[in-house]
Amino acid sequence: MIRPPRADDRNACAALLAGLPEWFGIPESNAAYVRSLETLPAFVAVDDETEALQGFVALQPHGHRSAEILVMAVDREMHHQGLGRALIGAAERWCAEHDVGWLHVKTRGPSTYDEAYERTRRFYRGMGFEVLYESLTEWGPEDAALVLVEHLDC
Ligand SMILES: CC(C)(COP(=O)(O)OP(=O)(O)OC[C@H]1O[C@@H](n2cnc3c(N)ncnc32)[C@H](O)[C@@H]1OP(=O)(O)O)[C@@H](O)C(=O)NCCC(=O)NCCS
Repeated sequence: MIRPPRADDRNACAALLAGLPEWFGIPESNAAYVRSLETLPAFVAVDDETEALQGFVALQPHGHRSAEILVMAVDREMHHQGLGRALIGAAERWCAEHDVGWLHVKTRGPSTYDEAYERTRRFYRGMGFEVLYESLTEWGPEDAALVLVEHLDC
């Protein structure tokens, strides 16, 4: 089940990020991601029966027509079972309801190769996102930043 987050989801979201240190290894950033659920458009995936939290996504709107996936994560035990696709679907529906035509995400680029982020890039490409650009200056030469975008109006 996909639904908006509640205040009592925050500990579970924090625990989920802590369980994915290859992607979420900076505690201060993780705390900011969890706080963002209080203010940003966001969705959580929960088990239909137990209501255990399995994943979440938060969107950062930019102007009227553009929204960025600020954070997205699925419990490691639940990868490859369709939850990521379901969360992207919820984000796309939110964009459609708010006349947002561009959904984008910034993640680590291939120029500073990392196997974990290779999987992330494959996921987004599988969801229909295309590479807009890679930057070695945005986060610095040790951490290439790749912007992927989906044009929802097409
Ligand atoms: C990326 C992530 C959110 C994907 O969630 P998920 O629930 O595993 O993804 P899904 O099962 O919904 O996969 C959706 C599609 O992408 C494909 N996919 C998912 N992971 C993939 C991978 N590593 N390589 C290739 N394809 C992949 C699936 O095959 C699936 O395609 P299908 O529906 O045609 O079978 C999840 O793996 C995750 O939390 N990763 C760690 C954190 C992260 O990378 N967050 C994003 C940071 S910007």
